[in-house]
Amino acid sequence: MQKIIILDFGSQTTQLIGRRLRELDTFCEILPYNKFPKDDPSVIGVILSGSPYSVHDPEAFQVDLSQFVGKVPVLGICYGAQYISHKNGGKVEQTGTREYGRANLATVDTENPLFRNFDKNSQVWMSHGDTITAIPADCKIIASTSDVKFAAYASTSQPLWAVQFHPEVFHSLQGKTLLKNFVVDICGSKQEWSPASYVETTIKELKEQLGNDRVILGLSGGVDSSVCATLLNRAIGKNLTCIFVDHGMLRKDEFTKVMEAYEGLGLNVIGIDASEKFFTDLAGVTDPEQKRKIIGRDFVEVFNAEAKKITDAKWLAQGTIYPDRIESLSITGMVIKSHHNVGGLPEEMDLKLCEPLQWLFKDEVRRVGYELGMPEHLIKRHPFPGPGLAVRILGDVTPEKVRILQDADDIYIESMRNYVCEDGEVLYDKVWQAGTVLLSTIRSVGVMGDERTYEHPVALRAVTSTDAMSADWAQLPYDFMAKVSNEIINKVKGVNRVCYDISSKPPATIEWE
Ligand code: XMP
Repeated sequence: MQKIIILDFGSQTTQLIGRRLRELDTFCEILPYNKFPKDDPSVIGVILSGSPYSVHDPEAFQVDLSQFVGKVPVLGICYGAQYISHKNGGKVEQTGTREYGRANLATVDTENPLFRNFDKNSQVWMSHGDTITAIPADCKIIASTSDVKFAAYASTSQPLWAVQFHPEVFHSLQGKTLLKNFVVDICGSKQEWSPASYVETTIKELKEQLGNDRVILGLSGGVDSSVCATLLNRAIGKNLTCIFVDHGMLRKDEFTKVMEAYEGLGLNVIGIDASEKFFTDLAGVTDPEQKRKIIGRDFVEVFNAEAKKITDAKWLAQGTIYPDRIESLSITGMVIKSHHNVGGLPEEMDLKLCEPLQWLFKDEVRRVGYELGMPEHLIKRHPFPGPGLAVRILGDVTPEKVRILQDADDIYIESMRNYVCEDGEVLYDKVWQAGTVLLSTIRSVGVMGDERTYEHPVALRAVTSTDAMSADWAQLPYDFMAKVSNEIINKVKGVNRVCYDISSKPPATIEWE
């Protein structure tokens, strides 16, 4: 399949470039700036991203442009544009004033294919400290703002374009037109990426890759691993064995419900109740990172023990999706929380990894799920953390605390599934993720009937997001919150107060631990 390579120089908006290209039904790969693939005939164009660095910084990321310039069409964005200029006889200088925010293209060459269908004065978004003060000799200016003479330039001798603004961000109002001009008209994308084409090609590739080999897959009940399993089931049927571990910290009745759903999908699933082991190992542990590590370790042990029984397995399949990979590839990233997935699994078993969803964003995984005919309730499920409710209980974790949290959370989530908003959409489908946190290190006084209570509060959390990298708290309807609060306090023994978390990410995170 044709693809565009996006070379990542560390900009916060690199992922967005990828998103925009997928919206144009064009397959793309985001790769670290120094990992351009050699001799790949499916590459039809290259985009160089922005960067937190100046081209003059000693540690600025360097790339050998001759790998692709002159061979396929190239578009430099911000740092990419400055880098191309800097390396080809142009000039990039620190002017002392940062060019940041909205600007308008006072002049724009609409004869140039990059700016076809552009309006004069089109709004763009600038975000750079340095600026280009001279462009390479074989280049010409194709757009300027009142402050930035070289807002965009193009080579007159080879397929090379550069823009100092960010077409990928929402505030560049015709940014998508620019990217379409580049990807479709200039690079010749056939816009052939779709969930249906993805399913068809992936099943064919999986059949070729796996042949008659046995594959093991760890299911979590979440969308990614479920879609992955369904896809593999279509490709290799009975040769796929799924393992679903209950660590005791799933949502109320979730293990049973999810097992039923999987069996309904015709999957070959082994369910393991290992809750006792997890509770024993977590007893008395209060530190969030330690809790995460114990659960991660136990999970690997339980999974390994089961996987080893499938002696002829050759592959381990995982529902890794694209944002997981980008985060782990991140060239400037740091660990905020140690995420536990089914990752890093049975090393000593020497299994090969199979990750059929590794190029998809979350909403694309959902579209693939629909394409595969999976039930809506599985596809629309909110993300749920691998360590489960353990990271939603402050302090140590006990079966009793989990029970309290499960009951409160069940009321919250079921009410959300049943609440229809004014626009007809179900509230649950409007938010990215919702959950309840048991503030079990806190007690407060209340009164119930004639009795004084001294119990724990729960915090409700609901966020809107597109990829969980950033998130905003959801503005839930007051009547919904009132009903949920009443029901939780009246029905869940051990809880006498309900709060709502109004923190965005950053600076907070979605989960409390
Ligand atoms: P944070 O709390 O980092 O969460 O803002 C971002 C997203 O990741 C989910 N999450 C996890 N998912 N294993 C997972 O599979 C984990 O250990 C884990 N921790 C957090 C979280 O629910 C949110 O969607």
